[in-house]
Amino acid sequence: MIDHDTPLTLAKEAMGKSYSPYSTFPVGAVILANNGRYYGGCNVENAAYPQGACAEASAISAMVMDGQRIIDAIWVMGKGDNLVTPCGGCRQRIREFASLETPIYVCCPEKGVRLTTSLGELLPHSFGPENLA
Ligand code: THU
Repeated sequence: MIDHDTPLTLAKEAMGKSYSPYSTFPVGAVILANNGRYYGGCNVENAAYPQGACAEASAISAMVMDGQRIIDAIWVMGKGDNLVTPCGGCRQRIREFASLETPIYVCCPEKGVRLTTSLGELLPHSFGPENLA
């Protein structure tokens, strides 16, 4: 059984660090990497709007910076009635470091995991590193 308690706590902490003055929509992401460690990230917005970074992108940077290249699972947390699923660009970013079976847990602070899905479900017929081999 996968432990959700630790990543959910870390995702809340990551959300709390979000810099999102423009959207006022904090997002936290937590990656469980192949080394068994967790890497968190938050969205970091910018006055030049398109330069903002998503929480998933920040978490991937933290993982890669620690020498890791394989995502075993990822939790994405945001508020609201609608599910905060990874945006299209982040699905592709995750694709670079994950398999199609990699679980993606869509969460909110109050209820924890709201949807368990996979990269393959979120990004079918995708293009990835193997295409360039
Ligand atoms: N956001 C993320 O961080 N991850 C997603 O997958 C969805 C959107 C952020 C980007 C922006 O800072 C805010 O949520 C509103 O779009």
